[in-house]
Amino acid sequence: MQGSRPGQNPGSGSRSPFKYFKGELFVEEVAVKTIARHVGTPVYIYSATCIASNYRSYSDSFANLDCRVFYSIKANSNIGVLRHLSTLGAGFDAVSGGEIRRALAVGAPAGSIVFSGVGKTRNEMALALEVGIRHINVESEQELLRLSRLAGNMGKVASVLIRVNPDVDANTHTKIATGRAEDKFGIPWSRVKSAYVLAEELPNLNPIGLAMHIGSQLMSLEPISKAADQLAGLVRSLRAEGHQLDCLDVGGGLGVQYRAEGPAGPSVTDYARLVQARLGDLDCELELEPGRSIVADAGILAASVLLRKRGISQEILVLDAAMNDLVRPALYGAWHEIVPVQKRPEHTECVRTDVVGPICESGDRFASGLRLPRLDEGELVAVKTAGAYCAVMASQYNSRPLVPEVFVRGQQWTVVRRRPSFEEIIGIEAIPDWL
Ligand code: LLP
Repeated sequence: MQGSRPGQNPGSGSRSPFKYFKGELFVEEVAVKTIARHVGTPVYIYSATCIASNYRSYSDSFANLDCRVFYSIKANSNIGVLRHLSTLGAGFDAVSGGEIRRALAVGAPAGSIVFSGVGKTRNEMALALEVGIRHINVESEQELLRLSRLAGNMGKVASVLIRVNPDVDANTHTKIATGRAEDKFGIPWSRVKSAYVLAEELPNLNPIGLAMHIGSQLMSLEPISKAADQLAGLVRSLRAEGHQLDCLDVGGGLGVQYRAEGPAGPSVTDYARLVQARLGDLDCELELEPGRSIVADAGILAASVLLRKRGISQEILVLDAAMNDLVRPALYGAWHEIVPVQKRPEHTECVRTDVVGPICESGDRFASGLRLPRLDEGELVAVKTAGAYCAVMASQYNSRPLVPEVFVRGQQWTVVRRRPSFEEIIGIEAIPDWL
């Protein structure tokens, strides 16, 4: 479909694709209210231009290194988004058979897919071997044994990276820190060498290097620098002992700015400098697995105000979006900025507002004590920085259908996931015939 304001570009002038034009919030050149009118709310809206610009900041910053970006599908797995990134040249980091199949479904070559995860089923590993993905990141000795056996049965050789646990605290939310000794990820630092030897000894495995990922939403590069230093030391030491390593996967993790007045995430240019300084002279192919920093700021969740209710000391704005649609505030206490889609002259006065969803849980709350103008029933709001780990983590709790997703570029917009019907939702359920 076409946007409502041809010839104007409200998104120009800053990197954000979300800009007001005559008081109206636009995504690139399409008014949010146009999409809301056609598709209904709640609805996720993503900017293709912003995703491209985020991707290019990686490909440009790392251009002088032998380095490739494997976009982490888990952050936003919509096939429209994946096709867009594939066309831009991204490879893909998958963590399930479903994600491998999504990458293949958008035409990504199997050789551009890597497979991570602490627990892979036999079927998932078989799929990876069957289609011939680039490599599997292995996280335990047991997994090496299972993979070797399976590859043998299939008459294949599996290229593997050993994922290390460097025991580095990434200083992020505890639920998304993955590189501390107590976390379930990777092979403990003290056993990495023996695991590498095991991988070399086992039949049908071809160990080609190491992988790490120490956490997500990292606001400082320091922990990555520390872990990369350790990794470089390990590569040198393994090589000195006669082992061959050609590939290093340094994971993802760069944080993004969720609060307008809060800190910005680390710059990709600084990150590239760090990787160059720590790992650039190892003569290894380098791989990155960014997710959030490619898609987070490219998305919003647009929702309608169901009603405004007077609390004791605050206004309570009840939206038609809920924790099942966007769970990050309920799950991690995460902050997402919330703004009105239409700015009105009377909006100069702001009041303390709790923004909540309609689900019967007090945790169904997007923000507390936000300074917002008094919005009325039917008005639209945008929950910002909702392009990563939002639609993908949605559920149908309370029998609320999954939120549709819309992809925008310039004046064009397309529904890239429609809202399922009630019949589709209950269509996969059954009443036992013995009842
Ligand atoms: N590689 C591996 C092995 C990972 O586990 C992850 C994320 C990534 C790459 C991508 O990291 P990113 O660049 O997106 O930080 N649901 C949480 C985030 C979980 C991240 C899990 N792993 C949230 O909403 O904050």
